[in-house]
Parts: sequence; structure tokens; C-alpha cells
Amino acid sequence: MSTVNDIYAQLEQCEPRSVSQFRRYMDNIIEINNAIVYRGPNRVFDGLTLKIAEGCNTAILGPNGAGKSTLLKLLSRELYPVHQNGSYVRIYGRERWDVWELRSHLGIISNDLQQSYAAHAVGTDVILSGYYSSIGRWKHQHFTDQQRLRADDVARTLGISNLKDRRFAAMSTGEQRRFLLGRALVNDPDTLVMDEPTSGLDLKACFQYLDIIRRLMADSKTVVLVTHHIHEIPPEISRVVLLSRGRVTADGEKSDILSDRRLSDLFDTPIHLMYRNGYYQAVPASCTES
Ligand SMILES: Nc1ncnc2c1ncn2[C@@H]1O[C@H](COP(=O)(O)OP(=O)(O)OP(=O)(O)O)[C@@H](O)[C@H]1O
Ligand SMILES: [Mg+2]
Repeated sequence: MSTVNDIYAQLEQCEPRSVSQFRRYMDNIIEINNAIVYRGPNRVFDGLTLKIAEGCNTAILGPNGAGKSTLLKLLSRELYPVHQNGSYVRIYGRERWDVWELRSHLGIISNDLQQSYAAHAVGTDVILSGYYSSIGRWKHQHFTDQQRLRADDVARTLGISNLKDRRFAAMSTGEQRRFLLGRALVNDPDTLVMDEPTSGLDLKACFQYLDIIRRLMADSKTVVLVTHHIHEIPPEISRVVLLSRGRVTADGEKSDILSDRRLSDLFDTPIHLMYRNGYYQAVPASCTES
């Protein structure tokens, strides 16, 4: 549970529009406190602290190597912080989750998953595997008619019904990405965490995917986007956290955080930001309009 000060701090960043939305801010979905995390010999996080409240759509922005994918692994329980006093990772207020229970709260869509996904699985299998949080479908797994219908429904919503029988290996990157989103959505999670959701997609596929993310937020899902692509931050994302070398260097309302100066510092190169219809785009600072 958040302290009153935490709630006010997040309220300021997230501009709640209703009393019910205010209530949702009382609960943190993600609460990382003083986490020290190693990958092999590398100390990626050295006391990382980050809280994200329900309903607070957030982008975590950082350059290559900042620790974004490591953060996802911390949330998916593939990595744990070093055990020490006051160090924890809580999801919906709890440190321990059984993977079955967690699926209906938190859906994680990572690029690692896309790379490690069994190439021979067909589209339907990819979506159905979400019920077991497995990679691929296995003989011992059984699905009820209701689960199959829900998987069909999800495929229809994502516009991929026509690819249900195609092998994952024979799909384009954008098509694969949608199936992996479908894999998370069969469990109807309250929160979705996505790692660079539109990387590798062409413009049409990118815009379509962004539209899907926007619809999910309109449907009261909380979205946490982890990325270095400024253009993939939809207008509904209200909070931006900057991550650099495993540390949070800025955290606040999007319009305050996304400035030329802050992004130039973050990416260690002169950047000029352009803004249109709720979206930002970064160009080299030498490209300023005449
Ligand atoms: N398997 C690994 N073993 C050791 N160190 C690793 C491993 N994977 C990542 N690292 C290191 O951990 C740090 C954070 O990596 P991470 O993949 O989380 O960065 P990222 O922000 O996701 O970068 P990118 O934008 O390139 O995806 C980097 O310094 C990286 O070299
Ligand atoms: Mg990464």
C-alpha cells in the first residue's frame, strides 16, 4: 500500500480524471525498493527504487544497456535482487506469486520471448500457450471450449485470425508481435508491461500496434512501456521515467520530462524533440527547423 505522499506524487504525474481513478492510485502495481541486481558479473541495478500505481500509464526510457530488459526480467521473476534488508520487488503488493495467479494481473511481452518462442508453433498455439505461460503448446495441456473461444476472440480483436494456422517462424516480426500480445491478453491481465513494442515494425504495423496499445489503455488496462524509441510513446502515457546505467535519473509528468536537454543528457548526444498530436519524435539537434 502506498503512503499518502506517494499517492500525491503519482497523482500529480498522472492527472486522474475521476474518483474511481483516484482510488486506483491507492495501490501500487509495481514496487521496487533498493534493489541490487546482477547479471553475471555485472551489477546492473545498484539500489533501484521505482513505484508504479495502478492506472498510471508509464514509459520507462533509457539508452542501450540502461537496464530496461533487466527490469522486465525482475518483474517476470527471471531475476531476483540480492537478498538484503529493505530490498524487495512487489507486484500488486506481494513479493511471492505463483505464475498462474500472476498471469491475470500482469502480462509481460518481451523481445526475448519473441526470440525464444518455438518456431514450429502455429498462431493458435502461441495464443493458447498464454494459459500455461509456456513457450509453445504441449501434449499435457488441455483447453476448455471457453478458453478456445476466448483465444479466437483475442485473435479477432488483434486482426490476426487469418494467420491462426501459420507457423510462428513463417510470420513477419509485426505478426509475431501481435500473437505474443494475444498470448498475454487471453488471461485478461490488468497491467501490460512491454519491451520496445514497435521495434522492427514498419510504419503501418507500428501505427496499428500503437492503436492496439491505446485501445487497451482506453479499456482501463495499465500499460508500462519500456523503450528507447520516443515515437512509440502514445499520448495516453502520462508519466515518464528516465533510466540511465541502472539508475532513475528523472521521473515525472511526460511534458516535463521529455525535453531536449534531458534527452540529450540521457542519450549523450544533442537531441531536438518535435511534438505533434500527442506524439514526440527525436531528431539530431542540428536538424532544427528553419
Ligand atoms: N546475460 C548477461 N550477462 C551479463 N551482463 C548482461 C547480460 N545481459 C545484459 N547484461 C548487461 O546488463 C546491462 C543492462 O542490460 P539490459 O539488456 O537490461 O539493457 P537495455 O536497457 O535493455 O538495453 P537495450 O536498449 O540494448 O535493449 C548491460 O550493461 C548489459 O551489458
Ligand atoms: Mg533491452
